[in-house]
Amino acid sequence: MSEEVRWARRPFDGHAISVPLEEDQELTHVLPGTPGGEYLRRFWHPVAMSDRLGHRPEPLRILGEDLVLFRDGSGRLGLLHKHCLHRRASLEYGKVEERGIRCCYHGWKFDVDGTVLETPGEPADSDIRHRYCQGAYPVHEVKGLIFAYMGPPEEQPPFPYLDSFDIPDHDLVPYSIHSPCNWLQESENSMDPYHSVFLHGRVNGPQFPGLEHFVELPVVVYHKRAEGFVYSHARRRDDLVMIRFHDHLTPNFAQNGGMFQVLSEPKTYGRTSLTKWVVPIDNTNSRKFGWRHFNDKDEVLRQGNRDEVGWEKVDFYGQTAHRSRDEMRDNPGDWEAWSSQGPINVHRRECLGQTDKGVSLLRAKLRRDIRAVARNEAVTRPVGTPEAPYHTYGGDTILRLPKDNQDDRAMMDRVQRDVAEIYFAADAYEGEDRTDYIKREVSARFCT
Ligand code: FES
Ligand SMILES: [Fe+2]
Repeated sequence: MSEEVRWARRPFDGHAISVPLEEDQELTHVLPGTPGGEYLRRFWHPVAMSDRLGHRPEPLRILGEDLVLFRDGSGRLGLLHKHCLHRRASLEYGKVEERGIRCCYHGWKFDVDGTVLETPGEPADSDIRHRYCQGAYPVHEVKGLIFAYMGPPEEQPPFPYLDSFDIPDHDLVPYSIHSPCNWLQESENSMDPYHSVFLHGRVNGPQFPGLEHFVELPVVVYHKRAEGFVYSHARRRDDLVMIRFHDHLTPNFAQNGGMFQVLSEPKTYGRTSLTKWVVPIDNTNSRKFGWRHFNDKDEVLRQGNRDEVGWEKVDFYGQTAHRSRDEMRDNPGDWEAWSSQGPINVHRRECLGQTDKGVSLLRAKLRRDIRAVARNEAVTRPVGTPEAPYHTYGGDTILRLPKDNQDDRAMMDRVQRDVAEIYFAADAYEGEDRTDYIKREVSARFCT
């Protein structure tokens, strides 16, 4: 067998790489029974927006499984395998009843947990209904998003409640957008702060109002957490240094700093504008679910537009397929970048550099955790309740730090580590006490 050719290494030699290579199946395949698919099934994932669910059962495809979601007459949510246990008619044509759903074909009726409630054509003394269940998954509804756990019941974690679900003065508006590509491509975008410099700044001009300073190459620091990553990146404009924190919980959760910012004066601490998950539909399709956070404190430019947030839309640049082909080519956004990597990006054909550290860290952690699950070992997952939520860090601090004679990039590296220490020390507190601690300490340390 000839040696694998991964790159062209001389001019005019496209021919060297004209034979396609296979994708990294371990990281990208999500179907049931695959290592990646089983790993992903150890987590809760959003699967639907509440306001899309009417009186009919909704067909969904998640992690390569065909499902139906419904809300029965008593208000309970059910997520069942789409094909009826009896002879596999689709339950998307089922009739939702006061309790459960009835298949249209022969009238078998299922509860929200898959229990067979009735088999009306069978003899009265038949025990067939006690011998089987329709495939079902537990669901949990939070602020207009419906989450599901699709792993083995004995591995089910409690639903992880994050502090960003309840930030005072933040109004969470759900949204969801499809991408015709493997889930990892969009998820990696959130671990790649350098793309902002080029995609959102230098190549076609600034794309986000207030974030024009994105054109500067940031100084990036990755602060590892057991459940994933927190990273920060710092950029200077004159005397001001903006330090922006991102959360990235594996496998697929991300939260960044404020949208519609302004870098014109110091700010001790502002919180996130965007909470999101990238959920695999199958190997070559994914759907982002999340919330835009509307608030006046953390989005000082107040250019958000909640009418533009919802199904297949969000109120900032370049996030959907719904622009003209010419517009997309003239000024592509995030959606064009990750979707254009192909249905499944082939990592072996990439040529990673120093700016890809976040992507490499993410892939390495995913691979470790996929292998841990394959060995029946536990993976660290976020734990939180509404009373004691899991702490996240997505947000921004802006400091007045005039340049001095030191190496400025070394100073920005040091300063963001110091600010991160304050953020992490605040973990001793909850809610507003935690925010107050960060503001007080940042102010005492950097704003005297
Ligand atoms: S196929 Fe559903 S009841 Fe027969
Ligand atoms: Fe981006």
